[in-house]
Amino acid sequence: MGTALITGASAGLGLEFAWQLATARHDVVLVARDTERLERLASQLRAAAGVHAEVLTADLTDRADVERVAERLRATERPVGLLVNNAGLGIGQRFVGGDLAREEAALDLMVRAVLVLSHAAAGAMTERGRGAILNVASVAALTAGGTYAAAKAWVRTFTEGLAVELEGTGVTATALCPGLTRTEFHDRAGLRAAETYPEIAWLSADRVVATALADVRRGAVISTPSLRYQVASGLLRAMPRSVVRRLGDVRPDRD
Ligand SMILES: NC(=O)c1ccc[n+]([C@@H]2O[C@H](COP(=O)([O-])OP(=O)(O)OC[C@H]3O[C@@H](n4cnc5c(N)ncnc54)[C@H](OP(=O)(O)O)[C@@H]3O)[C@@H](O)[C@H]2O)c1
Repeated sequence: MGTALITGASAGLGLEFAWQLATARHDVVLVARDTERLERLASQLRAAAGVHAEVLTADLTDRADVERVAERLRATERPVGLLVNNAGLGIGQRFVGGDLAREEAALDLMVRAVLVLSHAAAGAMTERGRGAILNVASVAALTAGGTYAAAKAWVRTFTEGLAVELEGTGVTATALCPGLTRTEFHDRAGLRAAETYPEIAWLSADRVVATALADVRRGAVISTPSLRYQVASGLLRAMPRSVVRRLGDVRPDRD
């Protein structure tokens, strides 16, 4: 897969993607807003894994910043062979009466940036005849859990369509659909998830990332880490939507 470009590499799943990919001898391009955290990570990866690590500071709700990342994906020097569209956030509010700017920023980050960066990567990778795109959705994509679930449903469906379009090109697309995972996600969104969900509901970032990378390597279209979330996903798909809608209060990415 050559060089991997990871969005949201400063924390949580993105940080874990950076470590596992660097340990597997992939050069990395680290994208997020927090330059200090990215520079520290890049130094650690260079020292520990001996890989080339670039820092690309970008706010992916900003169109010009997204375009700079897209340009890096189109670059022919140290071409990117794996794009991990991972950056995301919990919206942490009800839609009605909530802050509309926060909703729009979440959509820009988790939908628009994924669209634009996938477009840049798919174009460059198909020209080279190889590559992989990994888009981080969520098991919440199968729920009726508000605008976050709607954004993740978009990521999942978009990635499935992209995977079909890419068949035979040497490029693959995978949607990662994790359940609750221990990262900074819930604290950042002000969600008290640790108190709300039992221990059994939680996955570790290292397990989620290891499963996702194994699924990318075998060209899987949907990656759902852990048997318990595979079963939960199967149930969500089998249930009538009227029942799924009633589960709104137990959706994984809300408190
Ligand atoms: N944790 C879970 O339970 C869970 C479950 C299912 C799916 N997911 C999905 O997994 C992905 C990773 O989340 P996580 O759990 O690892 O969360 P996290 O620990 O909070 O990390 C989020 C990452 O996204 C970056 N980010 C946030 N806003 C950004 C922006 N405007 N521009 C660029 N980067 C931005 C953050 O970096 P900076 O602050 O430095 O910009 C950080 O590196 C997300 O797409 C999330 O929806 C998480």
